Amino acid sequence: DNTTLSQQAAEALTYLQKKVPAELHEPVVGITCGSGLSGLAESVLPEPRCEIPYTDIPHFPPSTVHGHAGKFLFGLLELNKKPIVLMVGRVHYYEGHSIQSITIPVRLMKRLGVETIIVTNAAGSLNPDYSVGDLVILNDHINLAGLAGIHPLRGPNADDFGTRFPALSDAYDLDLRRRAHQLWKSLGRGTKSTRRLHEGVYAFVGGPSYETRAECRILRSFGADVVGMSTVPEIIVARHCNIRVFALSLVTNNAVLEAGPRGDDIAIQGSSAQDLYKAIEKGKANHEEVLAAGQNAAADVQQLVGLLVRDILST
Ligand code: ADE
Repeated sequence: DNTTLSQQAAEALTYLQKKVPAELHEPVVGITCGSGLSGLAESVLPEPRCEIPYTDIPHFPPSTVHGHAGKFLFGLLELNKKPIVLMVGRVHYYEGHSIQSITIPVRLMKRLGVETIIVTNAAGSLNPDYSVGDLVILNDHINLAGLAGIHPLRGPNADDFGTRFPALSDAYDLDLRRRAHQLWKSLGRGTKSTRRLHEGVYAFVGGPSYETRAECRILRSFGADVVGMSTVPEIIVARHCNIRVFALSLVTNNAVLEAGPRGDDIAIQGSSAQDLYKAIEKGKANHEEVLAAGQNAAADVQQLVGLLVRDILST
């Protein structure tokens, strides 16, 4: 595709403006639903709604993953009837698209008028303090692929979106993080539920294989709390065009950090190889487990995100 990113976003916008009814135009908040978190769509009133499959939108790469139906959903937030847009299912880098093309949806959201995005994902935990089902507000990230040059802003800079060398040291909006913690407290979740809300660092890996144990130890020693195959490219492109970002991971599995039986990891010192194999089996990631954790947590995620969006739209 020889057109510039700006032209691509403009053509996608023209297409959407023709398809989406006027009352749903100009959403100021966009939400990306992670694996198993499509239930966020229930925060939107049943009527009026407009769904646009990604495959219909010019320049969009098609989503190919089972369980990631790909569409834009335009609707009114149930809590206050203001227009929002959701990405139900996202396109991942591991599907084979370029790192630039998987972030076109974010550029399109910018053109639609979105000022804040809420990005959700399913992630593996590297932090021994986290349990499956816990939620993690992201406060920073490690873009391993990006440090090595696989970066969504690589190439001619789209000056009409942002600057050549954007800062990312404040990518995860402090005010939104504070508000989310307060809302979580107000829901009484801290005491009533076993599900906990943390803050942590997300490591972006290319996938599609889950990490090896040695890779998990690297990521942990780098300071990552969770690991996943999405979100970071979107956040970089959002920050480039000055969209405010809130990101939330649902812990769907605990990564295995145990090392081999030669005792190079304190977790297994003194234990038999059998214990190690049990731990490895228990921590082996699989896609079904990821989707199931999403279903169980969906109601809580939905409630927290819904309240946060209402809060954003009323200030
Ligand atoms: N998504 C869910 N769990 C994951 C893991 N362990 N690694 C990468 N992406 C994931």
